[in-house]
Amino acid sequence: MKNTVNRRSLLKSSLMTLGGMALAPHISMGAFQNASFSVDEKNRLYYSPLLREHFLDERPDVMAMAARLNANENPYGPPESAKKAVIDAVSGGNRYSWRELAVLVDKIAKKEGVDTKHIMMGPGSSDLLEKFALVMFMNGGNIVSADPTYMSLIRVAESVGAKWKPVPCTKDWSHDLKAMEAAIDKDTKMVYICNPNNPVGTITDSKALMDFCSRVSEKVPVFIDEAYLELAEGTGAVSMVSLLKEKKNVIIARTFSKIMGMAGLRVGYAVALPSTLDQIQKITRGGMGISHTSVLGAIASFEDTEFQAMTKKLNTECKEYLYENLKKLNYKYITSYTNFVIFPINMDGKEFLSKMTAKGVMIRTFDINDKPWCRVSMGTMDEMKLFVKALGELS
Ligand SMILES: Cc1ncc(COP(=O)(O)O)c(C=O)c1O
Repeated sequence: MKNTVNRRSLLKSSLMTLGGMALAPHISMGAFQNASFSVDEKNRLYYSPLLREHFLDERPDVMAMAARLNANENPYGPPESAKKAVIDAVSGGNRYSWRELAVLVDKIAKKEGVDTKHIMMGPGSSDLLEKFALVMFMNGGNIVSADPTYMSLIRVAESVGAKWKPVPCTKDWSHDLKAMEAAIDKDTKMVYICNPNNPVGTITDSKALMDFCSRVSEKVPVFIDEAYLELAEGTGAVSMVSLLKEKKNVIIARTFSKIMGMAGLRVGYAVALPSTLDQIQKITRGGMGISHTSVLGAIASFEDTEFQAMTKKLNTECKEYLYENLKKLNYKYITSYTNFVIFPINMDGKEFLSKMTAKGVMIRTFDINDKPWCRVSMGTMDEMKLFVKALGELS
């Protein structure tokens, strides 16, 4: 059984019953801030048949936390170059940023090998995920995706009336492309692929995915969320953007929040066929939501390949350190191609979450198939050491 709860009413009732204490941090501050969400009979957030998430009754003091390893942010950002650009841009904040945005779009188009008409900007890729969901599902239909996966687009699609057709991941936690293709029917309006996939951190083979997107996009648009693609090192993973040259109906979402260290500055973009973007931009505007300072910060960080290379290197070092220590502590884990790692734990997810939080370490705990898992983002090496120490004390 699941109950749909409006965040505001739950917040209100929690304020009454808990004497002023607020809700789970990822709800009150997360992507679904004003959205309806559901809790199941065990008081876990209900994401999917397979995936539930635990949340705390009290919101911890985020600023007092020693290690913030719960939101897959880049601990090294923003790059110095972007900080300077943001500061220098402040005095131009009385003007709309169209000219500067066009400079950024030009650079992105050049890198992606497409015309600027293929680019739609947004204040973070979440904004684009949501806009595509709103527009493409406003007249119903269904969406096919893996389960588990990143729920942002799917949640919004469901909220406006879409039916979600979740397809369980394969045994190795990659997309079951065959089953996904079979799940498409006459009402399917979109296939959503998150590659590498959040929250499992796995990658689906690029060649198989390319074949899938090429074939399936003849029938229905395929949305590929590549938020973590740059971090998929050593896999030969490539973007699906090249399919646009063949006029395939694919939509690729990218973000400045991860490799470029700008999560709080909010910049992302979608690359798609101009006709697909027209459909979205008839109703909503993309770049309008990005501040002038963020546009200038994004131009700087986009060009700061040194910072991006450093992020990759340190991210890999932290993952290796984590793997080594998880093995020492007898934890199995799913090999990750992102900046987070998920692994099964031997403790109730909510208990684990509150114990870690009490130690100043923010992580997320999910139940997958009713078994508890911890998802930890890569922080600085010092933060990873704190995490490993805290984990050791709980084990
Ligand atoms: C798979 C995926 N897509 C999109 C986003 C949204 O990122 P942003 O809105 O910061 O660009 C996230 C954030 O964690 C993510 O994990």
